[in-house]
Amino acid sequence: MIISLIAAATENRVIGRNGGLPWHLPNDMQYFKQTTLHHHIIMGRKTYSEVAVNKPLPRRTNIVITRSTNAHFPGCLTANTLAEALQIAHNNGETEAFVIGGEQIYRLALPYAHRIYLTQIHATLEGDAFFPQFSLNEWHLLSSQTHQPDEKHVYAYTFTVWERLQKPQKLIDPKE
Ligand SMILES: NC(=O)c1ccc[n+]([C@@H]2O[C@H](COP(=O)([O-])OP(=O)(O)OC[C@H]3O[C@@H](n4cnc5c(N)ncnc54)[C@H](OP(=O)(O)O)[C@@H]3O)[C@@H](O)[C@H]2O)c1
Repeated sequence: MIISLIAAATENRVIGRNGGLPWHLPNDMQYFKQTTLHHHIIMGRKTYSEVAVNKPLPRRTNIVITRSTNAHFPGCLTANTLAEALQIAHNNGETEAFVIGGEQIYRLALPYAHRIYLTQIHATLEGDAFFPQFSLNEWHLLSSQTHQPDEKHVYAYTFTVWERLQKPQKLIDPKE
């Protein structure tokens, strides 16, 4: 099973502000949907409550990571660790599990990720949540597609896909 991170970040790596996204880029929402549809998506409890607004994203298996042992998120599976979330996806026969944020969960998952789908937003914005730095020595660019601003998109943006050069650290035993 491939572990992928999917995120949109500005040039100063901002991914969020006050619990939400400080931009509106409908093409990126569409790209996110197309890419993650029918897969397991793994998110932190804050992203679930603030970005997904306490609703599972349809036609995907939603897994929410929380430290709380008695939490229940309707329509979602719950995990207390990233390993548990990945194990659920693996046990369900997933081929590519998507970690969809936010900052805390991207940081947790980055060492185990094979792929990063990063929408680079060509702007510098203020924010309070950031995408972690990743080294260009460890990752190479698989694809890149730039879109210029238009009437629906205030900023230019580039869909990039990165692949790790070496195998990532293992968090779960794929034989289990
Ligand atoms: N631009 C993008 O692509 C994108 C995507 C997603 C989110 N975002 C942004 O990211 C921001 C939210 O990120 P965030 O870092 O504040 O929150 P988050 O990563 O979404 O969720 C944090 C929560 O995850 C749980 N958690 C964290 N580490 C854990 C661990 N080791 N074990 C078990 N549970 C753990 C905790 O839940 P409990 O408190 O319940 O224990 C914690 O409060 C928002 O601004 C959002 O808009 C941006």
